[in-house]
Amino acid sequence: MSDDWKRLAAERAVQDVQDGMKLGIGTGSTAEHFVRALGERVRAGLKVIGVPTSERTHELAKAEGITLTTLEDEPELDLTIDGADEIDPNLVLVKGGGGALLREKIVAAASGRMIVIADGSKLVDVLGAFPLPIEVNSFGLGATWKAIETCLAENDLSGELVLRGGKEHPFVTDGGHYIIDAHLGKIPHPACLADDLAAIPGVVEHGLFIGLASKAYVAGPDGVKTVEAKS
Ligand code: A5P
Repeated sequence: MSDDWKRLAAERAVQDVQDGMKLGIGTGSTAEHFVRALGERVRAGLKVIGVPTSERTHELAKAEGITLTTLEDEPELDLTIDGADEIDPNLVLVKGGGGALLREKIVAAASGRMIVIADGSKLVDVLGAFPLPIEVNSFGLGATWKAIETCLAENDLSGELVLRGGKEHPFVTDGGHYIIDAHLGKIPHPACLADDLAAIPGVVEHGLFIGLASKAYVAGPDGVKTVEAKS
C-alpha cells in the first residue's frame, strides 16, 4: 500500500514539471517512482534536463532516457523533487535514510524550489523518531563521534549513535564518507541542532533539511494532499 502511495505522490509531482525545466532528481524508493513517471513524459516529448542526487538515480534516469547534466554545467536548477524520511508541519525534513543526503542537500540548495513526495507515514508532529543521518569524514571518526555526543548533550538530546553498516563494513556514501545514525527519538529544536552539528569539523553534512522544501505531496488512503510551508 505504502508503495502505491509513494507512486501516487510521485505522479502528482511530475505534473508540476514544465517543458524546459532544469531539475534536481532525488533518491529513494519514492523518487524512483518520480524518475519512471518523468521518463514516460520525456518519451512523450517533454524536454527537461536533470541533475541526479546519487549514482543510483543517475543509472535509473539514464535508463529512462532522461537527459542528465551536472551542477558544473548547470549550477542553478528550477525545481528539485525528492523523498524524505520525516516531514514536520513546517516542512523541515529528515533525509538520508538512503545515504544520499549530501548530494540531495547540495542539489536542493541549488534549486529555486523543492517539492517533497512521500506517503503519509512520513508526516510527523516532531522530528526524530527516524534516526538522524549524519555524514562524516572517515578521518578522525573517533573524535568526530565524541564531538557529536557533546553536541547532542548540549542540545539536551540523548540516544544511541550507530555507524551505518557497522565497524567491520561501514556503509560508504557516493562521496566516500561514513554515516552515523543518531537515534534521538525527538528533535524539538531542529534549527539549533542543525547549526551545532554543522559546526563540527568532521561532520560533512547532516540530514536536517531546513527552509529548503516549499511544498510536499503526501499520499494516503484519501488521495494526495498538498502541504505548504508555513512561511
Ligand atoms: C535518500 O538518501 C533519502 O533522503 C530518501 O529521500 C529518503 O530516505 C526517502 O526514501 P524513500 O522514498 O525510499 O522512503
